[in-house]
Amino acid sequence: MILSIESSCDDSAISITEIKTNKLLFHKKISQEVEHSIYGGVVPELAARLHAEALPNILAQCESYFSKLKAVGVTSTPGLAVTLVEGVTMAKAIAIALDIPIIGVNHLIGHIYSLFIEKETQFPLTVLLVSGGHTQVMEVKNLQDIKTVAKSMDDSFGESFDKVAKMMHLTYPGGPLIQELAKDGDRLKHNFTVPLHQSPLIAFSYSGLKNAVRLAVLEEEKKEKPDFKDIAASFEHIATKHLTMKLKKYFKTNPPKTFAIVGGASANLYLRSQIEELLKPHHAKLLLSELQYCSDNAAMIGRVAVDMYKKGLFSSLESLDIAPRSQL
Ligand code: KG4
Ligand code: ZN
Repeated sequence: MILSIESSCDDSAISITEIKTNKLLFHKKISQEVEHSIYGGVVPELAARLHAEALPNILAQCESYFSKLKAVGVTSTPGLAVTLVEGVTMAKAIAIALDIPIIGVNHLIGHIYSLFIEKETQFPLTVLLVSGGHTQVMEVKNLQDIKTVAKSMDDSFGESFDKVAKMMHLTYPGGPLIQELAKDGDRLKHNFTVPLHQSPLIAFSYSGLKNAVRLAVLEEEKKEKPDFKDIAASFEHIATKHLTMKLKKYFKTNPPKTFAIVGGASANLYLRSQIEELLKPHHAKLLLSELQYCSDNAAMIGRVAVDMYKKGLFSSLESLDIAPRSQL
């Protein structure tokens, strides 16, 4: 079995995965959303302190597995430096105490592998990763052959939802709250410009849309009873249309056979429905993670660790370090 730890942002999580069967024997996650919500985003130092409390508590619940562990996996990149350190330090302590190898896992590969929890892998794949930290399209041939073909030039898709939510005085994380507010709104009420719509670039950008939404929010706030539902709906519509327009362009030269959406924001139902429409003419299969594994978790890190273990991709205990900013 492999014990795996995730602490790259604001979720403290540990999993135990059986190597032979990919079975998830244990998974516990403690989210810090409530603690960060009043700040409208994650406060790194607060997150690190909460990981230092939560991780040992979860670890104590896995003690019965210790004698069966063959390796320890841990998210070492990318993420917040002060929070990655919490997980990596704990993983090193476990590796030394139990005399087992350590496996440094890339969090982005973790999101891709959230598709394969308790399952066999399925490659090749075209993947759209939409999370709080990333918006990127990847061509995935296998664990060791992943090519990023498009990414955001500024904010990420999820982050733009968080920032728009903050403008509307909603709490963090904003994605689910904007989705809820948008449900009863008019998607066509505000005619926001689709980012980069005239650019031939296959890339993403959310800062301009965010500013356009800010102006609409300020205008709405002048009213006696401001109501943000139409702005939320129009924002969600344009944020999604930007993704689908760029994907449509990309598909012209690279038609997908199997397409997947992963990451915290892949839980967005409007995005899911629009991507389904986009894939229809290509007769492409759509893979989605289970809703509980879209956001950060240790089950996906454990699933990557199993494949890395089988390929002998261990890290050196002395040199495994955090790499907060590395990209795929
Ligand atoms: O993958 P994740 O848990 O953390 C990172 O690795 O960043 O993603 C969290 C992000 C947050 O920005 C959150 O607002 C967004 O995912 N999110 C959503 C939805 N649910 C979560 N964004 C849009 N619609 C949603 N339903
Ligand atoms: Zn993530």
